Amino acid sequence: MELAPSILTADFTRLGAEVEAAFAAGIRWLHLDVMDGRFVPNISFGPLVVRSLRPLASRYDAIIDAHLMILEPERYIPEFVAAGCDRITVHAEACQHLHQTVQQIRGLGAKVGVAVNPATPLSALEEVLPDLDMALVMTVNPGFGGQKLLPSCLDKTARLRRLCEERGLGGLPIQVDGGVNTTNIAAARDAGATVSVVGAAVFNPNRTPAESVEALRAALS
Ligand code: DX5
Ligand code: ZN
Repeated sequence: MELAPSILTADFTRLGAEVEAAFAAGIRWLHLDVMDGRFVPNISFGPLVVRSLRPLASRYDAIIDAHLMILEPERYIPEFVAAGCDRITVHAEACQHLHQTVQQIRGLGAKVGVAVNPATPLSALEEVLPDLDMALVMTVNPGFGGQKLLPSCLDKTARLRRLCEERGLGGLPIQVDGGVNTTNIAAARDAGATVSVVGAAVFNPNRTPAESVEALRAALS
Protein backbone atom coordinates (compact mmCIF):
# COMPACT_ATOMS: atom_id res chain seq x y z
CA MET A 1 0.00 0.00 0.00
CA GLU A 2 1.48 3.34 -1.09
CA LEU A 3 1.01 6.10 1.50
CA ALA A 4 0.09 9.49 -0.01
CA PRO A 5 0.08 12.23 2.63
CA SER A 6 -2.35 15.09 2.10
CA ILE A 7 -0.99 18.45 3.26
CA LEU A 8 -4.39 19.92 4.19
CA THR A 9 -3.76 19.48 7.92
CA ALA A 10 -0.05 20.30 7.77
CA ASP A 11 1.35 23.33 9.61
CA PHE A 12 1.40 25.83 6.72
CA THR A 13 3.76 28.11 8.62
CA ARG A 14 6.40 25.40 8.03
CA LEU A 15 5.00 23.49 5.05
CA GLY A 16 8.35 22.65 3.48
CA ALA A 17 9.74 21.25 6.73
CA GLU A 18 6.59 19.18 7.30
CA VAL A 19 6.69 17.71 3.80
CA GLU A 20 10.46 17.06 4.00
CA ALA A 21 9.92 15.20 7.29
CA ALA A 22 7.44 12.93 5.51
CA PHE A 23 9.89 12.36 2.64
CA ALA A 24 12.66 11.64 5.13
CA ALA A 25 10.37 8.99 6.63
CA GLY A 26 10.21 7.26 3.25
CA ILE A 27 7.15 8.87 1.69
CA ARG A 28 7.45 9.23 -2.10
CA TRP A 29 3.92 10.36 -2.98
CA LEU A 30 2.42 13.73 -2.06
CA HIS A 31 -1.35 14.29 -2.38
CA LEU A 32 -2.36 17.93 -2.89
CA ASP A 33 -6.03 18.69 -2.25
CA VAL A 34 -7.12 21.55 -4.48
CA MET A 35 -10.50 23.06 -3.56
CA ASP A 36 -12.41 25.89 -5.25
CA GLY A 37 -15.16 26.70 -2.72
CA ARG A 38 -17.73 25.69 -5.39
CA PHE A 39 -17.39 21.94 -5.95
CA VAL A 40 -16.64 21.60 -2.23
CA PRO A 41 -17.47 24.05 0.62
CA ASN A 42 -13.82 24.96 1.21
CA ILE A 43 -11.01 26.78 -0.58
CA SER A 44 -7.46 25.42 -0.25
CA PHE A 45 -4.71 26.34 -2.73
CA GLY A 46 -3.73 26.33 -6.43
CA PRO A 47 -0.74 25.76 -8.74
CA LEU A 48 1.40 28.11 -6.59
CA VAL A 49 1.74 25.49 -3.86
CA VAL A 50 2.52 22.79 -6.42
CA ARG A 51 5.26 24.98 -7.88
CA SER A 52 6.67 25.69 -4.42
CA LEU A 53 6.85 21.99 -3.45
CA ARG A 54 8.06 20.63 -6.82
CA PRO A 55 11.83 21.12 -6.22
CA LEU A 56 11.62 19.44 -2.80
CA ALA A 57 9.62 16.52 -4.20
CA SER A 58 12.13 16.15 -7.04
CA ARG A 59 15.02 15.98 -4.56
CA TYR A 60 13.38 12.89 -3.05
CA ASP A 61 12.22 11.54 -6.42
CA ALA A 62 8.67 11.82 -5.07
CA ILE A 63 5.55 12.31 -7.16
CA ILE A 64 3.02 15.09 -6.81
CA ASP A 65 -0.60 14.01 -7.19
CA ALA A 66 -3.14 16.82 -7.46
CA HIS A 67 -6.70 15.98 -6.44
CA LEU A 68 -8.80 18.64 -8.15
CA MET A 69 -11.97 19.17 -6.18
CA ILE A 70 -12.95 21.98 -8.52
CA LEU A 71 -15.69 22.57 -11.09
CA GLU A 72 -14.67 22.58 -14.79
CA PRO A 73 -11.14 21.36 -13.98
CA GLU A 74 -10.24 21.43 -17.69
CA ARG A 75 -9.71 25.19 -17.29
CA TYR A 76 -6.73 24.68 -14.93
CA ILE A 77 -5.22 21.32 -15.89
CA PRO A 78 -2.50 22.88 -18.09
CA GLU A 79 -1.43 25.14 -15.21
CA PHE A 80 -1.23 22.25 -12.75
CA VAL A 81 0.84 20.21 -15.18
CA ALA A 82 3.13 23.18 -15.85
CA ALA A 83 3.47 23.72 -12.07
CA GLY A 84 4.88 20.20 -11.78
CA CYS A 85 2.09 17.67 -11.13
CA ASP A 86 2.93 14.09 -12.09
CA ARG A 87 -0.66 12.93 -11.64
CA ILE A 88 -3.97 14.77 -11.83
CA THR A 89 -7.26 13.41 -10.51
CA VAL A 90 -10.54 15.05 -11.48
CA HIS A 91 -14.01 14.34 -10.12
CA ALA A 92 -16.48 12.57 -12.39
CA GLU A 93 -19.16 14.80 -10.87
CA ALA A 94 -17.31 17.99 -11.88
CA CYS A 95 -16.76 17.25 -15.57
CA GLN A 96 -19.28 17.87 -18.34
CA HIS A 97 -17.09 15.87 -20.77
CA LEU A 98 -15.14 13.43 -18.63
CA HIS A 99 -13.70 11.40 -21.51
CA GLN A 100 -12.35 14.59 -23.09
CA THR A 101 -10.85 15.79 -19.80
CA VAL A 102 -9.15 12.42 -19.28
CA GLN A 103 -7.64 12.75 -22.77
CA GLN A 104 -6.57 16.31 -21.97
CA ILE A 105 -4.59 15.19 -18.91
CA ARG A 106 -3.01 12.29 -20.82
CA GLY A 107 -2.21 14.58 -23.74
CA LEU A 108 -0.26 16.88 -21.43
CA GLY A 109 1.88 13.97 -20.27
CA ALA A 110 0.49 13.56 -16.77
CA LYS A 111 -1.03 10.38 -15.35
CA VAL A 112 -4.78 10.60 -14.96
CA GLY A 113 -7.16 9.67 -12.16
CA VAL A 114 -10.91 10.03 -11.77
CA ALA A 115 -12.55 10.34 -8.35
CA VAL A 116 -16.07 9.51 -7.19
CA ASN A 117 -17.79 10.91 -4.10
CA PRO A 118 -19.52 8.57 -1.62
CA ALA A 119 -22.96 8.82 -3.28
CA THR A 120 -21.69 8.56 -6.85
CA PRO A 121 -22.16 5.07 -8.35
CA LEU A 122 -19.16 3.22 -9.80
CA SER A 123 -21.00 3.26 -13.14
CA ALA A 124 -19.74 6.87 -13.46
CA LEU A 125 -16.25 5.41 -13.96
CA GLU A 126 -17.11 2.45 -16.16
CA GLU A 127 -16.75 3.96 -19.61
CA VAL A 128 -13.40 5.64 -18.88
CA LEU A 129 -11.90 2.92 -16.67
CA PRO A 130 -9.65 1.54 -19.47
CA ASP A 131 -8.20 5.05 -20.00
CA LEU A 132 -7.21 5.66 -16.39
CA ASP A 133 -3.96 5.36 -14.51
CA MET A 134 -5.85 5.39 -11.19
CA ALA A 135 -9.36 5.52 -9.72
CA LEU A 136 -10.04 7.45 -6.50
CA VAL A 137 -12.79 6.31 -4.14
CA MET A 138 -13.64 9.10 -1.69
CA THR A 139 -14.08 7.61 1.77
CA VAL A 140 -15.39 10.90 3.18
CA ASN A 141 -17.50 13.67 1.72
CA PRO A 142 -14.85 15.94 0.23
CA GLY A 143 -13.85 19.34 1.54
CA PHE A 144 -12.00 18.87 4.80
CA GLY A 145 -9.21 16.86 6.37
CA GLY A 146 -9.61 15.08 9.69
CA GLN A 147 -13.00 13.51 8.99
CA LYS A 148 -14.16 9.97 9.87
CA LEU A 149 -13.92 7.29 7.16
CA LEU A 150 -17.28 6.04 5.85
CA PRO A 151 -17.14 2.20 6.10
CA SER A 152 -19.62 1.76 3.24
CA CYS A 153 -16.98 3.29 0.95
CA LEU A 154 -14.64 0.39 1.67
CA ASP A 155 -17.34 -2.01 0.41
CA LYS A 156 -17.55 0.24 -2.64
CA THR A 157 -13.77 -0.04 -3.04
CA ALA A 158 -14.03 -3.82 -3.03
CA ARG A 159 -16.78 -3.66 -5.68
CA LEU A 160 -14.57 -1.42 -7.81
CA ARG A 161 -11.68 -3.85 -7.48
CA ARG A 162 -13.97 -6.68 -8.66
CA LEU A 163 -15.23 -4.51 -11.54
CA CYS A 164 -11.63 -3.83 -12.61
CA GLU A 165 -10.82 -7.55 -12.49
CA GLU A 166 -13.91 -8.41 -14.54
CA ARG A 167 -12.76 -5.88 -17.16
CA GLY A 168 -9.22 -7.26 -17.28
CA LEU A 169 -7.99 -4.16 -15.43
CA GLY A 170 -7.09 -5.96 -12.23
CA GLY A 171 -3.84 -4.00 -11.94
CA LEU A 172 -5.50 -0.57 -11.95
CA PRO A 173 -4.33 1.41 -8.90
CA ILE A 174 -7.21 2.34 -6.58
CA GLN A 175 -6.71 5.24 -4.19
CA VAL A 176 -8.84 5.76 -1.08
CA ASP A 177 -9.08 9.26 0.29
CA GLY A 178 -10.44 10.53 3.58
CA GLY A 179 -10.33 9.40 7.19
CA VAL A 180 -7.72 6.70 6.67
CA ASN A 181 -5.63 5.99 9.76
CA THR A 182 -3.98 3.16 11.69
CA THR A 183 -7.37 1.69 12.66
CA ASN A 184 -8.68 1.15 9.12
CA ILE A 185 -5.77 1.22 6.66
CA ALA A 186 -5.40 -2.58 6.66
CA ALA A 187 -9.12 -2.90 5.86
CA ALA A 188 -8.65 -0.42 3.01
CA ARG A 189 -5.83 -2.55 1.61
CA ASP A 190 -7.88 -5.74 2.02
CA ALA A 191 -10.73 -4.04 0.12
CA GLY A 192 -8.38 -3.62 -2.83
CA ALA A 193 -6.99 -0.12 -2.40
CA THR A 194 -3.34 0.21 -3.48
CA VAL A 195 -2.77 3.87 -2.59
CA SER A 196 -4.02 5.53 0.57
CA VAL A 197 -4.30 9.24 1.12
CA VAL A 198 -3.42 10.02 4.72
CA GLY A 199 -3.88 13.57 5.98
CA ALA A 200 -4.48 14.02 9.70
CA ALA A 201 -2.95 10.57 10.22
CA VAL A 202 0.41 12.03 9.12
CA PHE A 203 0.22 15.77 9.67
CA ASN A 204 -1.07 16.52 13.15
CA PRO A 205 0.31 18.39 16.18
CA ASN A 206 0.50 15.28 18.40
CA ARG A 207 3.16 13.29 16.53
CA THR A 208 5.95 13.86 14.04
CA PRO A 209 5.35 12.75 10.44
CA ALA A 210 8.03 10.10 10.98
CA GLU A 211 6.18 8.64 13.99
CA SER A 212 2.90 8.75 12.07
CA VAL A 213 4.33 7.04 8.98
CA GLU A 214 5.91 4.36 11.15
CA ALA A 215 2.57 3.74 12.92
CA LEU A 216 0.76 3.42 9.57
CA ARG A 217 3.33 0.98 8.22
CA ALA A 218 3.06 -1.05 11.43
CA ALA A 219 -0.72 -1.14 11.02
CA LEU A 220 -0.19 -2.61 7.54
CA SER A 221 2.32 -5.27 8.54
C1 DX5 B 1 -10.88 15.72 1.69
C2 DX5 B 1 -9.57 15.41 1.00
C3 DX5 B 1 -8.82 14.29 1.68
C4 DX5 B 1 -8.47 14.59 3.03
C5 DX5 B 1 -7.64 13.48 3.62
O1 DX5 B 1 -11.70 16.40 0.80
O2 DX5 B 1 -9.79 14.97 -0.30
O3 DX5 B 1 -7.61 14.08 0.97
O4 DX5 B 1 -7.75 15.80 3.09
O5 DX5 B 1 -7.33 13.91 4.86
P1 DX5 B 1 -7.67 13.00 6.13
O6 DX5 B 1 -6.79 11.78 5.95
O7 DX5 B 1 -7.28 13.86 7.28
O8 DX5 B 1 -9.12 12.68 6.05
ZN1 ZN C 1 -7.77 14.25 -1.65
